[in-house]
Amino acid sequence: MSKMKLAVHGGIPVRTAPLPSIGDISGRFFGEEELANLRQVIETGKLFRHGGTFVERLEKEFAALHGVRHAVASTSGTAAIHIAIAAVNPDPGDEIITSPITDIGSVAPILMQNAIPIFADLDPETYTLDPASVSERISDRTRAILPVHLFGNPTDMNALSAIASEKGIALIEDCCQAYLAEDKGRLVGTIGDIGCFSMQQSKHMTTGDGGITITDTDALADRACLFADKGWARGGEVRDYLFLGLNYRMNELTGAVACAQLGKVRDVVGRRRQAAERLSRRLQEVPGVQRPTVREGCKHSYWLYAITLQERAFSASPGEFAKAISAEGVSASAGYIGRPIYLAPVLREKITFGRSHHPYDCPAYGKPLEYREGDCPAAEEILRRIIILPCDEKFTDKDVDDIAEAVWKAAEFYRC
Ligand SMILES: Cc1ncc(COP(=O)(O)O)c(C=O)c1O
Repeated sequence: MSKMKLAVHGGIPVRTAPLPSIGDISGRFFGEEELANLRQVIETGKLFRHGGTFVERLEKEFAALHGVRHAVASTSGTAAIHIAIAAVNPDPGDEIITSPITDIGSVAPILMQNAIPIFADLDPETYTLDPASVSERISDRTRAILPVHLFGNPTDMNALSAIASEKGIALIEDCCQAYLAEDKGRLVGTIGDIGCFSMQQSKHMTTGDGGITITDTDALADRACLFADKGWARGGEVRDYLFLGLNYRMNELTGAVACAQLGKVRDVVGRRRQAAERLSRRLQEVPGVQRPTVREGCKHSYWLYAITLQERAFSASPGEFAKAISAEGVSASAGYIGRPIYLAPVLREKITFGRSHHPYDCPAYGKPLEYREGDCPAAEEILRRIIILPCDEKFTDKDVDDIAEAVWKAAEFYRC
């Protein structure tokens, strides 16, 4: 087939109509359900979670959806992870092993609890924690493993569970991008000790910002509830602040929207899977473009749709390739977070509390640690080659076909 002139070079774009976007109503399901719940909150005047009904209902229904006994709603995914780590209660200077490709919301709570983030390398196919690398980086200070189900693709939880139980350490799942993803028939968030979700604008269910932490372990749930409510054991004659906690309480307005969104999340994930699977079938016809790899027996939930370009298959860099796709009317970007999170200034230069480098310099840790380029070579290579394509619950077949055509056009033009 002959090369077509790319839109980036003045050719006719694949599409001019914008695709449905996760950033506004064009790509999200908000409507009467959210409005009715919000109206109820306003009309009762009960906006605070204690005394209201929606946050409690959200917690019950979210736990039931996952088949676990406890859920604690909060203000963000970062808060949900902070709550999980505080529930596990590491000692200062304990290490927590996590993924180098993630949002800082997976990592900042580790430092906030005075623990040390250690980064293990990723599986080059799934972009999730490589259990062999995790094993290698376990030390006598490791207190927990915190896998990130990146883009909605489940981490190999069987392997990580085996490592965690052998070492007697906690497994905290970051499911912020992975609602209803499954590993061998089990929902993510229920396989480890504790699971964390985000309801930020772009997530499968959203309240603008919000979070929720789930667990089946009573002791973790007790600590999680207290930590998110200032450590306050309510109900006594005096205020009992049992340990150091924060106010991460979700309010009823957020809970009202979250309850309505929860009723839609299965459908949202189903629609995204359908769109992504169609895109994967279309991209099968584009040699050199690697589609998401889903391990046998797993279900991806496609927060985003990531492709990588095979080495030496194309004359363009991923950046040029993504620009060409975007010019065709399909927003694409290269590199995702750009560099592994351990090379961000906050971690590389240990910019933490005042002039100290706490907790890295705390006597309880007592060993030097530097984050360096090359620490996780597979993750660094993924970031050099990755291109992010959108995924949305409102994509039509035509939208998906246009995305595939934009990728195909760029691939044909730049093919070596
Ligand atoms: C993998 C991952 N972890 C944690 C977070 C933090 O969530 P939030 O932005 O709701 O605080 C996000 C959100 O972007 C995320 O994608």
